[in-house]
Amino acid sequence: MTLPRQNPTTNHYGRDVTDHLPAARDVVGVAGFREQDLPVWEAAVEHLHVRSNDVHTAYSYGIASALCDLHPEADRDVVLPAMILHDTGWSMLPPQDVLAAISPTGSNPESVIRHEKEGARIAEGILRDLGFPDERIDQITTIVDGHDSRREALSLNDALVKDSDKLWRLTPHGIDTVMDWFGLTRPQAHVLIGSRVHDHLFTDAARTMARAYAAVAVIDSVPQRTVLG
Ligand SMILES: [Fe+2]
Ligand SMILES: [Fe+2]
Repeated sequence: MTLPRQNPTTNHYGRDVTDHLPAARDVVGVAGFREQDLPVWEAAVEHLHVRSNDVHTAYSYGIASALCDLHPEADRDVVLPAMILHDTGWSMLPPQDVLAAISPTGSNPESVIRHEKEGARIAEGILRDLGFPDERIDQITTIVDGHDSRREALSLNDALVKDSDKLWRLTPHGIDTVMDWFGLTRPQAHVLIGSRVHDHLFTDAARTMARAYAAVAVIDSVPQRTVLG
């Protein structure tokens, strides 16, 4: 996979414009990881190196952060740590089982439930080590335990975690990952992912984001776009 472009290699405009950019703190949506979430991320990431769960989690964290911006009544001190920790439990299962959560042949309910339970246990240990208060640990582990199998959302915080988890599938990384998992062409992956995302979201904000992600992803692969290079 190629990394996003980090530095421009050409300047068609002919002048250095960088002194004229606004301050990042004044611009919506460019914040990245919060300082206070870094210890959680650093403790969790060793449990996430299974089937791209590390990268999936990073993107879902960014999406959850955006959904929290759109829902100021949500508690991002619950949503964001829960997002980081939600899939740590896959580390306790065989890598092959990770695909169970979205397989078109039908999911494996035992594996799904086991990764939720193991994830809640790992999350509790990490949060306790980091000195999180009991109430906060309880809120976060309740979301982790059931994040895939529970059909309803227990709270807005829970809904935002569930929605961010699913929205990752529509990102470029999510689509490439699902293509590799199941040997699908890009259009086939769009069909599988679309069938598992749009009608399974809890918030209007996530439904709108899903439509925008899908629109961009589909145009990325239609001949009218690809022929343009
Ligand atoms: Fe999961
Ligand atoms: Fe996930």
